[in-house]
Amino acid sequence: MKDCPERIRSIFAALDLSTDLIQARSLVLYPEAQELVVAAKDDDGREYRLTPGAAAAWRRMNAAASSDGVVIKIVSAFRSVDRQVEILREKLAQGASLGAILAVSAPPGYSEHHTGCAIDITTHGVRPLEVEFENTSAFQWLSKNAAQFGFVLSFPPGNRYGYEYEPWHWCYKPDDVKPDITA
Ligand code: DAL
Ligand code: ZN
Repeated sequence: MKDCPERIRSIFAALDLSTDLIQARSLVLYPEAQELVVAAKDDDGREYRLTPGAAAAWRRMNAAASSDGVVIKIVSAFRSVDRQVEILREKLAQGASLGAILAVSAPPGYSEHHTGCAIDITTHGVRPLEVEFENTSAFQWLSKNAAQFGFVLSFPPGNRYGYEYEPWHWCYKPDDVKPDITA
């Protein structure tokens, strides 16, 4: 693959990943964000970093949700390529197959989380990063309102990248937001 940089190629080789899957799954190479700010902190003091634009949009969206009585919390934000490698290695060490892992995790270099614009969101009363998030008032609220703040759902059911449905994964893409024709 001519567009696959040497660093990523050697990571693929080390993980025994075929670069064929990039084209087969229409995966997009994402550069790691260079400018990041802390967008949120959880109760344990863990910091979630995003680009300045995405962080500002998250703060506006969180404030609007909150004023509608809806709790939304970030459980993952910027991830480096090295962190994505660790995630894959942890799953492999737990005995998961590569096929199963790549249905839910991006290969290193190809995660929207590298951009500092993607967030995984949870709310009270559900396990994070599970499809049950779809049945929450937080998800309903996001489905109706996230676009106003520039956030789009990246992996709906049947998405072209071959990932399982991820109702929790939203990405700040203000240029991709479609006007709400119901408004
Ligand atoms: N879970 C998404 C696909 C990622 O790993 O970026
Ligand atoms: Zn995600």
